[in-house]
Amino acid sequence: MTTHPPAQHTFSLSAPVRLWEEGFALDPDRYYAALRAQGPVGWGELAPGVPAYVVTDRRAALEVLRDTDAFSHDPRPWENTVPDDSPVLGMMRWRPNALFSDGAAHIRYRTTLIDVFDEVEPHDLRTRVHRAVNVLVSRFGPRGEADLVEDFARPLLALVLNNLFGLPDSQGDRLNEGLGKMMEGGAQAAEGEATYAQYVLELIAAKAERRGDDLPSRLLDHPAGLTPEEVTWQVFLTLGAGFEPTSNLLSNSLSRILGNPRYYSTLTNGARPVMDAVVEVLHHETPLANYGIYYAVRPLSFHGAWIRAAVPVVVSYGALGHFAEREVPQERHPGDASHLSWGAGPHACPVRQHTLLLVTEAIERLTQWLPDIEPVLPREQLSWRPGPFHRSLTSLPVRFSPRSPDQPGDPS
Ligand code: HEM
Repeated sequence: MTTHPPAQHTFSLSAPVRLWEEGFALDPDRYYAALRAQGPVGWGELAPGVPAYVVTDRRAALEVLRDTDAFSHDPRPWENTVPDDSPVLGMMRWRPNALFSDGAAHIRYRTTLIDVFDEVEPHDLRTRVHRAVNVLVSRFGPRGEADLVEDFARPLLALVLNNLFGLPDSQGDRLNEGLGKMMEGGAQAAEGEATYAQYVLELIAAKAERRGDDLPSRLLDHPAGLTPEEVTWQVFLTLGAGFEPTSNLLSNSLSRILGNPRYYSTLTNGARPVMDAVVEVLHHETPLANYGIYYAVRPLSFHGAWIRAAVPVVVSYGALGHFAEREVPQERHPGDASHLSWGAGPHACPVRQHTLLLVTEAIERLTQWLPDIEPVLPREQLSWRPGPFHRSLTSLPVRFSPRSPDQPGDPS
């Protein structure tokens, strides 16, 4: 699908920058620039009538992420200020899990997640990714064309995560649909949240009855003694945190690789590794663009802004990536990241190594199967899903020489 930029509207310095409107997905950098023009902390809106402070400056962001005395991750005081049918509640309402907890409760939940993911060995994850790529390529390979969002990135994450969480492949569509609607934060968000919650409830009820070799069963048996309800909410968080941003990291990276001959013409001889493209996405198109949501525990003066309590303070990982190159000193140690796309401080993403392995393996395996894959559209003509929280392609059409699953020379 081709999109054309709408007539550009101009931003006023005092009006909130509306991250929910259509133009944001088309040109996020304009919105980030408008926020930045207001100072390190801008004034935005996540949905009509849902205001938020938006942090676009690296130093201010690190303070929000690390100062647990001043900033909390618990949204409950804010929830009392929004209508029950607000489309962003699915993504932002409190649940008893790591993301929405502070202090000792947070450490208890987070430790269980780290422990169960630690048991997923790299070679095991690699095998699961290869299996999923093989399943998908055998579906669309014979066609000679595919949409790498709908035919590859999203179903791949559904297959890999369902496999880790002890669900059959056939359940992938329900996961894909429920989470997709919730993440967009639009008119169908409540329906998506209900579908997804039901999905997780059924899963935990089944595992409480009969354990398997999977993450929910390990959470149920973890020495921290989580109740089945607490396990339900850890899984609700983890499947969601894993599915949407990772499928977007995968498709955003693929779009950069396939649209850029500097990557793709050399991919097979390894001159420009896949990891470079993934890191480029983390800098310039990070999938969790505006989902570092904190709340001041009391009113405070912060980097030139007066912050009220019970109003979201959004660390804009998307804007930080956009402005990072200018702010970080040129001399850096290897491994320093000028982006903050995994977050920082106590809530920083606990599974970034797994994620990087998953995404790079998926891309390498796909391009081994389909070595002449090429994009149908130039990158500027790709369209992006609406929603304030993410950077997510609608589709990524490609073509390639048709490939049958049992053809000689398949990657082993
Ligand atoms: C299998 C894939 C993934 C899983 C299972 C996962 C899981 C999680 C969990 C459980 C948390 C909450 C940790 C806590 O509150 O202590 C978290 C936080 C976070 N994750 Fe991930 N994640 C995944 C992929 C990603 C990807 C692809 C990105 C983006 C590049 C990402 C970025 C983040 C960020 C920025 C935070 C912190 C948000 C904040 O500031 O509150 N994650 N992740």
